[in-house]
Amino acid sequence: MSELKLLNEAIKARDNAYAPYSGFKVGAAVLTRSGKIFCGCNVENAAYSACICAERVAISKAISEGERGFEAIAIVGGKDGLIFCPPCGECRQVLAELCGLDLKVILGTPDNVKIFRLGELLPMAFGELK
Ligand code: THU
Repeated sequence: MSELKLLNEAIKARDNAYAPYSGFKVGAAVLTRSGKIFCGCNVENAAYSACICAERVAISKAISEGERGFEAIAIVGGKDGLIFCPPCGECRQVLAELCGLDLKVILGTPDNVKIFRLGELLPMAFGELK
């Protein structure tokens, strides 16, 4: 699975974003170690605190289907076109818990793909398990 392919899956998932309040549409695609892809988009709510980010939709779908062990996540976002869209702090923490700090994080646009490890984006991460 190429980084570009996963990014394109995130772009497709973004089309389903429900973002009538912010107008900012986000898509995410998670790749499991077993080679499956789970996608998500942001889902907003009139009660703003009930909004959920695309990354947490995608990873929760995978976990709830019994998946454990993740290679990578691609994230894209923007209002009209795509802008560079790194994950919010809360999503970084959730990804650290469920995917570990070695998770590959693929950001950017098809003509400018940037790759990070989650640990670079969440230095000195909090965790109790190890
Ligand atoms: N959003 C995400 O889906 N992921 C992030 O990592 C940052 C923000 C969503 C939440 C909200 O629906 C919109 O983008 C604007 O904040």
